Amino acid sequence: MNSPPDFNRLASVYLWMEALSFGPWLWWCRCAWLDSLEARGPKNALVLGDGDGRFTARLLRTCPGIQVDAVDASSPMLQATLRRAAPDAARLRVFLADARNFEPPHPPYDLIVTHFILDCLTTAEVQALATTLSRAATPDAQWLVSEFAVPQSGFGRLIAQPLVSLLYFAFGRLTGLGPRSLPDHRSALSQSGFTLFQQRAWLGGLLSSELWSFNAHEGKVNAESSS
Ligand SMILES: C[S@@+](CC[C@H](N)C(=O)[O-])C[C@H]1O[C@@H](n2cnc3c(N)ncnc32)[C@H](O)[C@@H]1O
Repeated sequence: MNSPPDFNRLASVYLWMEALSFGPWLWWCRCAWLDSLEARGPKNALVLGDGDGRFTARLLRTCPGIQVDAVDASSPMLQATLRRAAPDAARLRVFLADARNFEPPHPPYDLIVTHFILDCLTTAEVQALATTLSRAATPDAQWLVSEFAVPQSGFGRLIAQPLVSLLYFAFGRLTGLGPRSLPDHRSALSQSGFTLFQQRAWLGGLLSSELWSFNAHEGKVNAESSS
C-alpha cells in the first residue's frame, strides 16, 4: 500500500485555498444534512479524513449528545481540529492514522462522515473501507458523503471533468496524492449494504452531498439540486 497523501504543509492554508477556489460551496456541501442530523441526534460518530476540523467542530456544537472519533493521516490537520473543537474537547478523540487500514476503535458508530476524502482513494480502497465500516456501523447508521462528481452532460464533459483533472494534478503535486480520477464510491457503498436516500447536487452537479443509510429498506434516492 502506498503512503497516504501528505497534507501537512496545507493544514494552515487549507481554509484559504478553499475560500479562494470554491468560496462557500464546499462548506454548504458538507453541511447540507446537518439539520436532519440534529433532529436525529446521533451518539457516536466516526469522521474520516477530518481535515482542519471545521466540520467536526460544527458537528459537536450542533449535536450536544455526540461523541466524535476523528481520523486523519496529517498531524497538523488533527491539531487544527483540536484547536477548533476545543470547547467540546471532552467529546472528541483524534487518531493519527491511515483510514485504509484503520480499525475503528469504538464501534458501533451511528454516523460516519467522509467529506472530500473518498476522492483520495481508489475504488478498490473505498470498497475495502466500506466493508470495514459496515462491520463497525449500527443497524441504522447513516453515512454522510461530500464529493466531487462529473455529471453526464455537456457541463460535465466541458467544465467538470477538466476541473476535476486539474484538482488531481494540483493535489498530486502538492501532497503526492496517487489516484488521478474519482472513485466509484456509490457502487462501493452500495455493495457494502449502504443505501443512498438523500442527495443534493451543487454547482451544476460538480459537488454532491449525500446521506446514506445502512440496511435502509427504501433504496429510492430523493434528489435535490441547488444552484
Ligand atoms: C481534501 S482533504 C479534506 C478534508 C476535510 N474532510 C474537508 O472536508 O475539508 C483530505 C483530508 O483527508 C486526509 N487523508 C487523505 N488520505 C487519507 C488516508 N488514507 N487516511 C487518513 N487521512 C487521509 C488528508 O490528510 C486531508 O486532511
